[in-house]
Amino acid sequence: MTTTTPAEPSSDLLRPHAEQAFAHELAALAAADDRPRPPGWQLSPAAVVSYLLGGTLPDGTVVTPKYVGPRRLVEVAVATLATDRALLLLGVPGTAKTWVSEHLAAAISGTSALVVQGTSGTGDDALRYGWNYARLLTEGPTPAALVESPVMSAMRTARIARIEELTRIPSDVQDALISILSEKSLPVPELATEVQAAKGFNVIATANDRDRGVNDLSSALRRRFNTVVLPLPATEDEEVEIVARRVAQLGSSLELPTAPAAAEEIRRVVTVFRELRSGRTSDGRTQLKSPSGTLSTAEAISVLTGGLALAAHFGDGVLRSADVAAGILGAVVKDPVADKAVWTEYLEAVVRERSGWADFYRACREVSG
Ligand SMILES: Nc1ncnc2c1ncn2[C@@H]1O[C@H](COP(=O)(O)OP(=O)(O)OP(=O)(O)O)[C@@H](O)[C@H]1O
Ligand SMILES: [Mg+2]
Repeated sequence: MTTTTPAEPSSDLLRPHAEQAFAHELAALAAADDRPRPPGWQLSPAAVVSYLLGGTLPDGTVVTPKYVGPRRLVEVAVATLATDRALLLLGVPGTAKTWVSEHLAAAISGTSALVVQGTSGTGDDALRYGWNYARLLTEGPTPAALVESPVMSAMRTARIARIEELTRIPSDVQDALISILSEKSLPVPELATEVQAAKGFNVIATANDRDRGVNDLSSALRRRFNTVVLPLPATEDEEVEIVARRVAQLGSSLELPTAPAAAEEIRRVVTVFRELRSGRTSDGRTQLKSPSGTLSTAEAISVLTGGLALAAHFGDGVLRSADVAAGILGAVVKDPVADKAVWTEYLEAVVRERSGWADFYRACREVSG
């Protein structure tokens, strides 16, 4: 049997599931939702899209945007899940693949917890089923000795199963999914039975662009998925918005004292990341070398959250350059030699010359040693 989440108050949890953290929004959306819901769905596809992109409901409930990006992408993702094809979210690191998958599962099935974390060590039993060996030895193969995988419980209970980092799973194990996705049934030969998927079952997988080739998807498996590629934020303003929103949310769930006037530092971190990632300054005038790290939006978020913790606990509560400098250095310099040179060049050629960036330059020089 799978264990279920205990009903703890979600405010005491370090990281509540999406369906716990946004339970009030999901309930308000369901109450206002008068469109048809596909079998097994908690909400209509339109309401799922509203949950992801945010908006205000007729009763005044504000639905916070979870994903910032093209509406069409989200519509395609949601529409796919209402068909018999599974959804593959693809993209470079930190483009919110995991985040979107969690929120889609929460909005559609009411749970995002049926998840398999793909690694090179993921075995068949993580996608199909395993056995409780103590019971297997005493009772032999009985239904009570069977340990369902998250995929099997999703099939039985008409929910969405999530598979993280699908391409890291060895190819022969991935192939277990082919029959699950095409037959919608999981045979259990030991019990001479099968689990047939109830309407509402589907799979959302995520995979990292950079991992491509590790265990590339077989074409047979790829055909069972509709692929949606999540892009990097299109503009600096969009990326600043994403980072600011997530930093505020994380800060409040970690109960960090609120640091005001962080907007300037947020924009600065985003600018540095975007410039180094794209290999030129935002005015397009200067070519830059890019460091080896990904400098994703997700890393910008963690640099700023770390900075807030420093400001709150060791500073005067206001986020300053000195609080983010070490975090930026850590994100940029992954390779102590090559990246260090890239960073130093950027500091001296760009940061030093930029008006209003003197404090930031000094703070970076200090931590760069
Ligand atoms: N377009 C976006 N809209 C909203 N949040 C975003 C966006 N891009 C990134 N984020 C934020 O970035 C963080 C990291 O995202 P997530 O972990 O889902 O990335 P990922 O694509 O799964 O990365 P990885 O390939 O490393 O697993 C999340 O907190 C998410 O809120
Ligand atoms: Mg991920």
